[in-house]
Amino acid sequence: MSCFSLSLFIFSLHIHYLVPTSGEFQQFRECASFVCGDQEISYPFRHVRQPSYCGYPGYELDCDRDNLTILSMKSLEYQVIHMDRSKQILEVERMDLSNDICLGTHVDTTLNFSLFNYTSSYLNSTLFYNCNSSSTHSPYRFSCPASGHGYFALDADLEKLPHERCNFSVFVPILPIEASSPPSTPESGSSANIRDIIRDILKKGFEITWIANTFLCENCTKSGGRCGYGWTGQEFNCFCRDKACPTTCSGPSGMYAKVTVA
Ligand SMILES: *[C@@H]1O[C@H](CO)[C@@H](O)[C@H](O)[C@H]1NC(C)=O
Ligand SMILES: *[C@@H]1O[C@H](CO)[C@@H](O)[C@H](O)[C@H]1NC(C)=O
Ligand SMILES: *[C@@H]1O[C@H](CO)[C@@H](O)[C@H](O)[C@H]1NC(C)=O
Ligand SMILES: *[C@@H]1O[C@H](CO)[C@@H](O)[C@H](O)[C@H]1NC(C)=O
Ligand SMILES: *[C@@H]1O[C@H](CO)[C@@H](O)[C@H](O)[C@H]1NC(C)=O
Ligand SMILES: *[C@@H]1O[C@H](CO)[C@@H](O)[C@H](O)[C@H]1NC(C)=O
Ligand SMILES: *[C@@H]1O[C@H](CO)[C@@H](O)[C@H](O)[C@H]1NC(C)=O
Repeated sequence: MSCFSLSLFIFSLHIHYLVPTSGEFQQFRECASFVCGDQEISYPFRHVRQPSYCGYPGYELDCDRDNLTILSMKSLEYQVIHMDRSKQILEVERMDLSNDICLGTHVDTTLNFSLFNYTSSYLNSTLFYNCNSSSTHSPYRFSCPASGHGYFALDADLEKLPHERCNFSVFVPILPIEASSPPSTPESGSSANIRDIIRDILKKGFEITWIANTFLCENCTKSGGRCGYGWTGQEFNCFCRDKACPTTCSGPSGMYAKVTVA
């Protein structure tokens, strides 16, 4: 046995002796936050492969092989670009539009409103496909191999568009800031360039808020616990190193609290 592996052996024995894994509360161990690329997946979210008690019902995220954090919602996948825990905001981008805006299926962006909502600032930008080429003066005109002429409206509400002249439309919200500084002179580009320009506008994503109330989680985390959810009792749980507690690891445990009450 080499010196290295011997010391590693002793080291792991030592660790094992001090903190036996069986002594660490299973829920605490399983609900460690999951790092995926630049994002940290933690309560109210859980990684799809973590037990359901690690997250609030409905808030599952996946980590794909490129370390992108993926939210699946109503038949579409979104990449999570950024998470703001204090504001409960996710910045997301539609995966199906991330390479090319020419689509096989034309699906509107819709949220599961029992889990998420739009923030107050977004524009109703819309992609139109299969249009009469003459039907628009939009600078963002393009064509797709399978769906003919199309165009992009930064704010479909304002532009009062003749929707009926296009066979398909796809609603994709954008942040107003993207519309206020659109890339220069799409007029001069080829159709493929304009598709890239539109794709890059959409790539900046839009914001959604998560509705689940997570105010209890902060104190739990501060006290060294990991947040979770009791699906049967439909209640917040704080998983501590050795037990489950109602709110924080420094307070009384759920079990003791029940004994005291009885
Ligand atoms: C919305 O989310 C809730 C909570 O997870 C789920 O029960 C429901 O099926 C979802 N609705 C749709 C349309 O996906
Ligand atoms: C994903 O992240 C893990 C852990 O940080 C890293 O080991 C792996 O190389 C990353 N994979 C890619 C494709 O970037
Ligand atoms: C969703 O957001 C809209 C405005 O942005 C607001 O009027 C509505 O109350 C919100 N819904 C929920 C469930 O928070
Ligand atoms: C987007 O369109 C919907 C439905 O037409 C409307 O209720 C909403 O107010 C619009 N949002 C904005 C920011 O214009
Ligand atoms: C729109 O759809 C109809 C019926 O499928 C088709 O006949 C028509 O050619 C389409 N229009 C365009 C501009 O592709
Ligand atoms: C396209 O334009 C032509 C001529 O203006 C019109 O006859 C035709 O109905 C239009 N097609 C669609 C799909 O709007
Ligand atoms: C978090 O802990 C602080 C200090 O103990 C307390 O004042 C506050 O009410 C707690 N917050 C919640 C949501 O329980």
